[in-house]
Amino acid sequence: MALHIIDHPLVQHKLSLMRNKETSTNKFRELLKEISLFMGYEVTRDFPLTYEEIETPLTKMNAPKISGKKVVIAPILRAGLGMVDGLLTLIPSARVGHIGLYRDEETCQPVFYYYKMPVNKERMVIVTDPMLATGGSACDAISRLKADGYQSIRLMCLVASPQGIKAVEDMHPDVDIYVASVDEGLNEKNYILPGLGDAGDRIFGTR
Ligand code: PRP
Ligand code: URA
Repeated sequence: MALHIIDHPLVQHKLSLMRNKETSTNKFRELLKEISLFMGYEVTRDFPLTYEEIETPLTKMNAPKISGKKVVIAPILRAGLGMVDGLLTLIPSARVGHIGLYRDEETCQPVFYYYKMPVNKERMVIVTDPMLATGGSACDAISRLKADGYQSIRLMCLVASPQGIKAVEDMHPDVDIYVASVDEGLNEKNYILPGLGDAGDRIFGTR
């Protein structure tokens, strides 16, 4: 397992705009899409290449192409949906699964309500969720994917707490984690500090 922190200045700049409580729903969504595209560049960095002979207008060459099975993007509902379009811009042929989980407001434990993934379990899965707080939701989502037969899983989050990262590392040491920021920690309600608030509410304008 490896933790990848995507510290590109454009990502950091856009994340700061997202954290600002004055940022509108419209802008928040747009920024999340843009950051997801940049992060996707790193998540796919080690994808294997194969070589295929093509003809340019001048000559023949062995041209590199992405090899291997197609990817599945698996957002954790709701907030993970905000990262799907950016990834699809990069990987248009990706399949999209859905994992329905919400965090109970009192207990902060994940509550499962929906699961729909493609039938081919050999594909790599990129789980998306902007927030990795206690890590309960991500751990549960990954456990369900593994129980369903998926073996190659990556987790892409925007903002993580040290506790959330540790929880995923402990339970799923084989899963690589990609984040734009490791924040200071959690408040008494298990919200990430400084964080950006409730990601789902900010994406969908529900509060
Ligand atoms: C948020 C977030 C994660 C989870 C993180 O979802 O999008 O899924 O909380 O918390 P955890 O790491 O402590 O489990 P939420 O439950 O608010 O649902 P929503 O996306 O539908 O708003
Ligand atoms: N879920 C969110 O949307 N934000 C947090 O900070 C923690 C959990």
